[in-house]
Amino acid sequence: MKQLVLQVEAILDQALPSEQTAPTVLHESMRYSTLGGGKRLRALLAMGACAALGGDVNATSGLVAAIEMIHAYSLIHDDLPCMDDDDLRRGKPTNHIVYGEAVAVLTGDALLTEAFAELARMPEKCGIDYQTTVQVIAEVAQGAGSQGMVGGQIVDIASQEQQMDEETLRYIHQHKTGALFRAALRGGALIGGANAEQLAAITRYAENFGLAFQITDDILDETGEAEQLGKAVQTDQARGKLTYPRLFGLEESQEMARRCVEECHASLSSFTDQADLLRELASFIIQRDH
Ligand code: IPE
Ligand code: IPE
Ligand code: MG
Ligand code: MG
Ligand code: MG
Repeated sequence: MKQLVLQVEAILDQALPSEQTAPTVLHESMRYSTLGGGKRLRALLAMGACAALGGDVNATSGLVAAIEMIHAYSLIHDDLPCMDDDDLRRGKPTNHIVYGEAVAVLTGDALLTEAFAELARMPEKCGIDYQTTVQVIAEVAQGAGSQGMVGGQIVDIASQEQQMDEETLRYIHQHKTGALFRAALRGGALIGGANAEQLAAITRYAENFGLAFQITDDILDETGEAEQLGKAVQTDQARGKLTYPRLFGLEESQEMARRCVEECHASLSSFTDQADLLRELASFIIQRDH
């Protein structure tokens, strides 16, 4: 996994314009928030899904760059004062603390746009056929857009200080977090040449992975250490966020995440050891302390 994370870092370094390229402040800011940090889970999932189908992991480099850029943009905007108002991300001051709010907003805009440029270059750079390229672009657009990640973020914001309700909470988690994991996994599976049945299995894995991941994110906000997490803790409660521990308590939430991870493993039952990276990642997310 460490080796793959280094590979992801190299892909992003290559995909992002250099700090010497004009407008320099924008490119410096894009690199500040995208390089040198993060668990790279979405990238590993894209690679893992492609590998599970016996595909060439190197062919996912465009998807990997795009997904991590979109993720970085979502974090920059999530941390803004008008959203979660956080000062620390990946162990460093958040983007708007360093560059100011206007640059932070524009950095997010630029990362989102460049991500789609990376996807459009997949035929040329990754040798992917045009039909698959268009399918992957559609997956990522759906995952990132108003009925995906952004849809989840707006309900998250709107639900602050509201009555607790399991259906809304599930919607938030499946969208603000699950949708991008789903796009990474389904995109990787499409690049790996998945048939309909294999795609359905990967989708079932994705849905359970996303939920287990965000339940754990909520748990770590209550029980984790800022030092390890690289972000502030106990912020959800302070902001009146709807979270799993708040609705179900810590133990029941842990149990729910565990059940989702079991579902992840079950969804891979027809895959060979080529799916071991996906199996390892599923086990990792509920054991993690960061
Ligand atoms: C944090 O995601 C934002 C959420 C969706 C909860 P990660 O925990 O994957 O963030 P990094 O990339 O490792 O920093
Ligand atoms: C963020 O969820 C989800 C996205 C950025 C899309 P959180 O607000 O829970 O993430 P953290 O806890 O700040 O990383
Ligand atoms: Mg948030
Ligand atoms: Mg946040
Ligand atoms: Mg959180």
